[in-house]
Amino acid sequence: MATVDTNFNYETIKIEREGKGEGITWLVLNRPDKRNAMSPQLHADCDDALFQLATDPETRVLILTGAGEAYCAGQDLRLFFRGTDNAPRQRFEAAQNSHSWRWSRLSRFPKTTIAMVNGFCFGGAFTHLIACDLAIAADEAIFGLSEVNWGIIPGGVVSWNVTQVMNHRDAMYYSMTGDPFDGKVAARTGLVNFSVPKASLREETLKLAQKMSAKNPATVRFTKEGIRAVRDMTESQAADYLAAKSDALRFHDKEGGREVAMKQFLDEKVFRPGLGNYIREEAKA
Ligand code: ACO
Repeated sequence: MATVDTNFNYETIKIEREGKGEGITWLVLNRPDKRNAMSPQLHADCDDALFQLATDPETRVLILTGAGEAYCAGQDLRLFFRGTDNAPRQRFEAAQNSHSWRWSRLSRFPKTTIAMVNGFCFGGAFTHLIACDLAIAADEAIFGLSEVNWGIIPGGVVSWNVTQVMNHRDAMYYSMTGDPFDGKVAARTGLVNFSVPKASLREETLKLAQKMSAKNPATVRFTKEGIRAVRDMTESQAADYLAAKSDALRFHDKEGGREVAMKQFLDEKVFRPGLGNYIREEAKA
């Protein structure tokens, strides 16, 4: 059961907490009447919220989703585009915030991020979808790189984003045709990890969030940073970087997971690393 956190007051988004002490925070895009299209205000709200939540001790996993029938209908054509066409300062500010939260803050968020695609997901929404570490969609969700349908290209960093996760043929096909596709296709193309019937979407997303929330946070953080970083490296750069990253983790890991886990497997024989997480003190308490 999620409850709204009234310490975070925003016009266009809601911050909700799952249960008590579960470490799961929802960031809900909250313009359901406009299918959660991204206005300049929504960009500013998300940018601030992600900055605050990055160091929020109650957040170990962040789930991004949309209120009502849509995940997010992309940029708000009226407020983001037409509304700032003749207002260079406002356009600049909106564009800065738009890029900052959807890519920089989300892709570098220090905890696990999950996108839960509950419905319509178009255009600019692909950037925050792909910035999240993990993504689950409703089978019934409708995705679309609809830019071509109204005379623009998938700009911002959408074109770059889709090539990070979709294969070349699918990226070309869906960008050039603008054809909508459902959650099952999104899973096949690599845009989301998997899709489930809408009726079980929330439950399945929470299961994944709970699994991630129970893991050693330093290990999770260093793992996701490592996977992202090595994509742009040569093999030898990656080997060197990962060696340094492994050493850095041993310095940063307050619970000394590596040693605890080895003891539990080799000496106490109480867990199987191949089949699940070691027993954390926090989980035992
Ligand atoms: N920008 C501005 N307003 C929007 C947007 C948007 N991207 N999407 C929906 N709305 C508004 C509609 O104008 C409408 O407002 P109104 O009630 O004041 O008339 C309201 O949201 C509901 O929209 P409908 O079209 O009536 O809802 P429906 O459920 O029939 O369709 C759908 C939903 C398919 C999402 C449709 O609204 C749509 O095609 N939206 C645009 C999707 C899109 O192409 N986004 C831009 C991608 S490109 C980019 O992001 C750079």
